[in-house]
Amino acid sequence: MFSALAEGLGSLRLGYLHAVETWDRSQIDARVSTVIPALVKKFKDAGGGLYIGNGDYTPEQAEDAIAGGWADAIAFGKLWISNPDLHNRIAVNGPFRTPEPKTFYDGGEVGYTNFPTLEESSAS
Ligand SMILES: Cc1cc2nc3c(=O)[nH]c(=O)nc-3n(C[C@H](O)[C@H](O)[C@H](O)COP(=O)(O)O)c2cc1C
Repeated sequence: MFSALAEGLGSLRLGYLHAVETWDRSQIDARVSTVIPALVKKFKDAGGGLYIGNGDYTPEQAEDAIAGGWADAIAFGKLWISNPDLHNRIAVNGPFRTPEPKTFYDGGEVGYTNFPTLEESSAS
């Protein structure tokens, strides 16, 4: 179904296709881990253009996806919330702070804008 959708969207010559892949990566076993890249690659190829994946990727898994050719880029959501300097942390291989789901969608600053950058952490 999603390949047909990607094909239809691809025919519109979009700049890129961006999908939230909603499986729980922590539950992925060795068998499934070979199936998923193949599925995503099918989706990417059906679109015929650039593909940006998203959904529970770690920076390491993102590099694998790009190196494996099933994504052109990976977007991060939750990791950005808990690591406001995510780009810097990726550049030096972490450490990465863990997001706090209990504070998501809560309206306050806690869990959103109170995570320190690496620089701030080393200053304290
Ligand atoms: C607190 C929170 C707010 C989000 N708000 C939006 C939003 O406004 N629009 C949107 O398209 N996705 C939103 N998302 C989804 C993320 O963009 C992303 O697709 C999702 O979190 C999976 O990627 P991740 O595992 O890298 O976080 C939100 C996610 C979280 C956790």
